[in-house]
Amino acid sequence: MAIKIKNAKQIEGIRKSSRLAATCLKHLEQYVKPGTTTKELDKIASDFMKEHGATSATFGYKGHGAPAFSGHICTSVNDVICHGVPNDYVLQDGDILNIDVTTVLDGYYGDTCKMYEVGTVSAEAKDLMEVTKHCLHLGLKECYPGNRFGNIGYEISKYAERQGYSVVYEFCGHGVGLQFHEDPEVSHISMKNTGKRMRPGMIFTIEPMINTGKARSKVDKSDGWTARTIDGGLSAQYEHTILITEDGCEALTDVYGDF
Ligand code: MF3
Ligand code: CO
Ligand code: CO
Repeated sequence: MAIKIKNAKQIEGIRKSSRLAATCLKHLEQYVKPGTTTKELDKIASDFMKEHGATSATFGYKGHGAPAFSGHICTSVNDVICHGVPNDYVLQDGDILNIDVTTVLDGYYGDTCKMYEVGTVSAEAKDLMEVTKHCLHLGLKECYPGNRFGNIGYEISKYAERQGYSVVYEFCGHGVGLQFHEDPEVSHISMKNTGKRMRPGMIFTIEPMINTGKARSKVDKSDGWTARTIDGGLSAQYEHTILITEDGCEALTDVYGDF
């Protein structure tokens, strides 16, 4: 399928939705502490979206054969790579948590995620999160008209592997805006100068998932969604929704400049 080029009206709508998703992440920050359950965070996010006239793209979302997703956000703790389902898990001092918010506002989608530290976390966890954040920024540097999508995954994987980490290849970034998941698939591990070329008006996510151990994932049988590292190693992820402009890019979910 061809990659959609968004018009000015669509871009404005996606910008607003992206801004709201980012604001939701910001709002959740104060509630991330030992003792809070991921289900409580889900309720806070759900209320926040409702108050701002939006809905969650994840709630009721059906994957390939998987049951409908029951969360309004994804909450992925420690060895969970992505798609963690909010539940009765009580956050513990030292946990690392990813919250992924995808809003639907006036029919437009904005998608972003970041890491939170619960209490005091290990130096190992801190380093993983820093490297993963840097991976997202290396990806952003590759976002300009004429460049090929493969260069995003090339730069990310080259760096992450040099730091001794592995790059998840079973989940990718994606076109976004008019639907939750549009073309193209944005791989975080790829070969230099491969893939389609970026054009102004394209909107997609970069959302690297980086592991301390092996790259492979396995999905929890209990909920059909929660994807964990196969070896129990830690995993981190950061995500922005990105617009290709005439001379570069704009990270539509980078509202607070905090990652
Ligand atoms: N927000 C995730 C992404 O970045 C997708 C979550 S799908 C869900 O693409 F159903 F698991 F929530
Ligand atoms: Co995404
Ligand atoms: Co997301």
